[in-house]
Order: sequence, then structure tokens, then C-alpha cells
Amino acid sequence: MNIECHGGKKVVGEIIVPPDKSITHRALILSALAEGDSEIRNPSRGQDCLSTLSCMRALGVQVDEDSPDSPPLEGGAGGEGRYHVQGLGLHGLREPADVLNAGNSGTTMRLLAGVLSGQHFFSVLTGDDSLRSRPMARIVTPLRMMGAQVTGREEGRHPPLAICGAPLKGISYTLPIPSAQVKSAILLAGLFAEGETIIEAPAPSRDHTELMLEWMGCGLNRSDSLTTLVPGVTLSPISINVPGDFSSAAFWIVAALICPGSRVRLPGVGVNPTRTGLLKALSAMGASISVNPLKSEGEPIADLEIASQELQGIAVQPSDVPSMIDEIPVLAVAATQARGVTEIRGAGELRAKESDRLACLAQGLRDMGAELEELPDGLIISGPTPLRSAVCETRGDHRMAMAFSVAALAAGDSTTIRDAECVAISYPGFWETLGAVAKG
Ligand code: S3P
Repeated sequence: MNIECHGGKKVVGEIIVPPDKSITHRALILSALAEGDSEIRNPSRGQDCLSTLSCMRALGVQVDEDSPDSPPLEGGAGGEGRYHVQGLGLHGLREPADVLNAGNSGTTMRLLAGVLSGQHFFSVLTGDDSLRSRPMARIVTPLRMMGAQVTGREEGRHPPLAICGAPLKGISYTLPIPSAQVKSAILLAGLFAEGETIIEAPAPSRDHTELMLEWMGCGLNRSDSLTTLVPGVTLSPISINVPGDFSSAAFWIVAALICPGSRVRLPGVGVNPTRTGLLKALSAMGASISVNPLKSEGEPIADLEIASQELQGIAVQPSDVPSMIDEIPVLAVAATQARGVTEIRGAGELRAKESDRLACLAQGLRDMGAELEELPDGLIISGPTPLRSAVCETRGDHRMAMAFSVAALAAGDSTTIRDAECVAISYPGFWETLGAVAKG
């Protein structure tokens, strides 16, 4: 499906962004491993989290759903229904009758590979064309060090992954890249291992797995760079209210900033500091964004308010990248409208996402008239440049489709977004919301 996006718009109104995808994945996986029943309120209904849901069901977990029409919850995001998960304990999953399909979701595949390595049965994980081309050695290497019997195409470098559950031992491992998925896969395997699992990270990455494990009673020792998990505990069930997804909010934040006359309010957005690097970067670009914290249990939540403003170019350092890894595409869009040069370095990981996001951005934004240089690990963007009509190839990547649509709002005339249905991976309803808030 192609979507025509009209330019010269402002965005105005209150937008309830969809529930956090990363937190929903973890809530589904960890509550299945808990002793007792958990409730996940306001779970993400994006296709990625539906992939995790169907994998957990295939592993014998009973998940009942309340209607998405149940009443909205306090604190913003809500009305999206609930899951009741019957936890099976650490050793209650059962061998799936068929291959587990993680769809487009790297988080589903990598986190489940950690859990499945420590089971007493055989399983296979596969995914769509994009996921089957993504790198898996990053989890296969440490999991094998723990004793996992896991293999895959090209010696385990690509899915499908085949896993024969085996006894695991704890390891001390330094992550070569600051990846939350790799860290989480090792921590989840560590729940089934004998002895401590110690992870050293070159830089912090999102810590939703650690927060949820702590909440469920699994003590972790955490310092800036070291995380230690001591196995042997049972996980307590949880009752969790999933906050709005900051990565989805990011598109509206940038749209409001760069489209003159805009003003948006985003209630109930998760503002875990390991996720909100974009706010820091935009503030360095001169933006003033109001962040009003709400009372919350577990993950921090806030209401955000943004109005259009002038921006200046900045230098994004490699150490800034992990806390805005999924927001770099929309930051690049902001940079096309900022005065001066924005240099983004240390972002080579973007080439290993749902698409090669650096190449995809460079092509799409250049076609729209942006002045931009593509580097092996980043982009150099000069602005402000007027954007013009183009046909943007999303390569089936949800974040690229939404980033190009934000650029399209600021463009002079209309832009075609190809394969626009991919937004449903993380943001079902994105196009309808865009239609409702884009004015003028
Ligand atoms: C995620 C971690 C990040 C992010 C992805 C979701 C997670 O990936 O890009 O969208 O939920 O743990 P990496 O761990 O590969 O950086």
C-alpha cells in the first residue's frame, strides 16, 4: 500500500501514542516464567508484540485477552485492553509443535533464544525476509559460551535458529556492542544457568529487562557498566500498566518541532532515561520540550508538550547513540530543517536494523532535496533545506515509513510513502492519527 502525504502542514492536538513495544515483549515473556498469574494492562498490539504473543502460546502459555474496549486507565495511555498470563514458572514451558515465527521482530527472536537455550526441549525460531537477514552471531556466541546448543544458517549467523535445550552455566561476558537485545538474551538464559551471569556493557542500553526482573523479585547487582544476575529465585507475577512508547512519540515530537504553527500534547509516555536520548539531542539543538512527570510504579512516565521551534545543527557522538538508537531516523529528519550541520557518528548499528536505515534515509531524504552525506557509521546533514515531492522507499521498515511521513509534513508538496502498511509493526493506527492531527 502506498500513502500520499501532503506537505505544508502543522500538527495540532493530543495524541495517545501506542503502548511500549519493548516493555510489552518483556512482560509477555517474563510473566510466562513467573509462578502465578500476571496482568498486562495496555499491551502493545503492534505486529511485533503479536509475534511474541503467538510464540508464547505455542510454548504452552495461556494468555487470555480482555477486549480492547475496556475502559481507559489513569495516566494517559489506555483503553487498549489487558492480557491475563498464566505463568508456568521457570520450568513449565512445553516443546512447541511447530517452528516459532518471530515475524519482523528482532526482540522476539533474540530474547526467546535466551529463554529457549535453557529448556529441556527442541525449538526452531524463524522470521520474515528482513529478520532472516539480521545478524544472530551476537547472541549465538555468548549463548554457546553458556553451554547452549544453538545453531542456524551460516554457522548460526542468520535465522532460522535451531535450539536443543541444554544445561547452562553462568558466564562473565563483555558485550561487543551496547545492545539491549543481546544483554537481555544473556540475562534470560542466566535465569536457567548454574552460577552467576555477569555482563559488562561498553555503554548503557535500555534496561527494561533488568527493571522487570527486579520487580519480579530477581535480585540483580547493577553498576554503571556491570550487571550480575544470581539464578535460583522464582519470579513473582506482576500487574503492569504499559506506558506509551517513547519511540512512537518521537515522530510527533519532531513533527511538532519542524512544522510551523504546531502544538501537540502526548500524555503518558515512558521516559526511561535509557530511551530518551532524543530529548537531550533536541534540547542541544535549541528545542524546549515540556516533560511533566507522572506518578508511576516501575518505569518512569511523563506527559510531553511540544510546539514548533527553530533548531540548530549538532554533533551526535557515538556514546549518545544507544539511548536514541531507534530515534536516529527522525532526528535526521529534524536535522534537514535545522540551521547548520548535524553530524551523526557511531551509528553503524542502524545498518543492521529492520532495513539498512542509514542507506534508506540517505536515499529518501536526498530524493526529497535534503543535503546529506552518508558515512559508514552515520550521516552529515546540512540545513535548513526546503523538502520537495518524492517517492520514498521504506524497504518495509516501520520506522522509515514514519520518519519519511514527518519529512513529508514539512515538505512543499505531496510525498508518496511506499509499503506504508509496515507502520503496524509498532504503530497500528499511525496513518489515521496523522490524518486527524495534520492541519492546514
Ligand atoms: C530493543 C533494542 C534495540 C532496539 C530495538 C528494540 C529491545 O535493539 O533497536 O528496536 O527491545 O531490546 P538492539 O538491542 O539491537 O540495539
